[in-house]
Amino acid sequence: MQMENENYESLPVYYQPFLPYRKTAKERIFMGGRETEPLNGLWHYAVDQYHTCLRSQWYLDRREDENGSRLPLDYSFDEWPEIQLPCCWNVAKPELFLYESAMIFTRTFLYQRRKSERTYLRIGAANYLCVVFINGKAAGLHEGGSTPFFMDVTDLLVDGDNRIILSVDASRAPEYVPMDNTDWFNYGGVYRDIELIRVPVHAVKDFRVSLVPGSDFGEIEVSAELTDTKDAEAVFEIPDLGIVSKFSLSQGRGSIRIKAKPELWNPGDPKLYDVKLTVFRTEDKDEIKHQTAGAAAQSAVDSCVEDGNALNTDQVLDEVSDRVGFREFAIKGRDFYLNGKKIFLKGISCHEDTDDHGKALTREDRVQVIKTAKELGCNYMRLAHYPHNEEMAKLADEMGLMLWEEIPVYWTIAFSNEDTYRNAENQLDELISRDYNRASVIIWSVGNENPDSDERYSFMSRLAEHARQADKTRKISAACLVSPDFTIKDRLAKSLDIIGINEYYGWYVPDFDYLTKLFRSSRPDRPVIVSEFGGGALYGHHGSSTEKFTEECQAEIYRKQVEVLGGTDYVKGMSPWILFDFRCPRRTSHIQGYYNRKGLVTSDRKHRKEAFYVLQEFYRSK
Ligand code: GCU
Repeated sequence: MQMENENYESLPVYYQPFLPYRKTAKERIFMGGRETEPLNGLWHYAVDQYHTCLRSQWYLDRREDENGSRLPLDYSFDEWPEIQLPCCWNVAKPELFLYESAMIFTRTFLYQRRKSERTYLRIGAANYLCVVFINGKAAGLHEGGSTPFFMDVTDLLVDGDNRIILSVDASRAPEYVPMDNTDWFNYGGVYRDIELIRVPVHAVKDFRVSLVPGSDFGEIEVSAELTDTKDAEAVFEIPDLGIVSKFSLSQGRGSIRIKAKPELWNPGDPKLYDVKLTVFRTEDKDEIKHQTAGAAAQSAVDSCVEDGNALNTDQVLDEVSDRVGFREFAIKGRDFYLNGKKIFLKGISCHEDTDDHGKALTREDRVQVIKTAKELGCNYMRLAHYPHNEEMAKLADEMGLMLWEEIPVYWTIAFSNEDTYRNAENQLDELISRDYNRASVIIWSVGNENPDSDERYSFMSRLAEHARQADKTRKISAACLVSPDFTIKDRLAKSLDIIGINEYYGWYVPDFDYLTKLFRSSRPDRPVIVSEFGGGALYGHHGSSTEKFTEECQAEIYRKQVEVLGGTDYVKGMSPWILFDFRCPRRTSHIQGYYNRKGLVTSDRKHRKEAFYVLQEFYRSK
């Protein structure tokens, strides 16, 4: 029997043996331009609500005792039924709709090691806790249901057949991020890609490209970090701008600023450039002393430039690429500027949720989300309340939409728990390193509707400062609550560049007079985005504009809201709640039917409600 040790942290005791395998943003690999070997497809699975796989070490797959006698097994990996991954099991199997505990997934796969490389496993997202075993050994543990995680599995893999086992646990708990109470459906599963990536021994783990804020749109900063502390040379290229710049990496890190005048990205003209980074071996320090810095790289590049051949490969350590837009999102006083032009953020909020696939949207689903937002007249969208699939930001880059991205520090989480803080900060780091090169992302949000307390203030101001240090090219916000005296006065605001405000006048506070009172009596010293307002309506349910849940009532709320907000000079953006109706276990009335009905469009994406056109008209008038 496995001895259960005492030092309970924030994870249940059966996870303790795997804490040393915890993976965070530190283990990431830069993905742009890399070949991957997908492990998506049919996996065997079994419900494991008592976490027996971890407790009884199924992953060891021990079939005989020390005398060689067969043991009775409580599992049969390859005889279990099959499920297509990635998916949310709640909508993949009707009998699993409300299941929120652990599920075991397993398959085998063929692998052939190649010389001088490392192999990483990347899982795009698994909700909420995931432990990975390869050939009977723990490979990694990850906490957090919306961000990618990586683990180096090179030394666990064998040539030929390999077995992978995932324990994915959708349990909710007060110490988690999010905690055990949210206003959205808790889908469980591995719901984004699962893939192997072969990388060179000295690989690029981070490659960041951005316009330097305050450089009059005339300077690009490039930074690179390797998986180890090796000295190297790097060559950065933007072919369409004729840029070929070399810079040195010392102890595995380096950066360079390059004068350039790229065509700027904006939602109406989302110009993107292909960029490339090649990292070269440097012979040794002495070699470098005799040559100008980076001469080895220069000679490699010259040979490339002269005769157009590929760079001499024996010097190349790693090569990565990306497709990026250059833009500057700035704040002056209480105004937003994109590329030096004043803008108003005409937005809408959106969950990652569909009737058929849960959170595992298809590419078509995502394209439809952005098209619908643009049809509404949006130049901006709030991806609530957690990081959505990375493809959303890539599509927003291509299709032209600015984004607010957010980590699920939602309502009253365990603000005095240091494990909870580390988890929230890691999810923020995983999000920033994943989406840093996305021009569409202009705001990082560190939370939503967190009632004020000293613990909450300390937790969130620390998180906001961490985000600001991690990324100088974006603004930091959070969706705050209206203060009890009906003014915009949250002490967290001084730690934010932008104050997000959620207010539901006309709905949860039916008296519209408070709406006017709030915005007339507040004097914020920085821009405000009304990150939520709205009301529910069942599509096709009609009645007076004062009868809750009629389309007329929702439309009237939007009319009153845009009238007051449109006349408030410090409101510089809005993302009403919400584009689509979405699943929600807290909404049980016969009209809601376990859906939050504040969508402007039905959850099947088929029908627009009257309020859709009220907001569309307002945005067209801006
Ligand atoms: C809150 C919260 C949302 C929720 C919404 C509602 O402000 O941020 O997650 O769904 O209001 O009550 O519908």
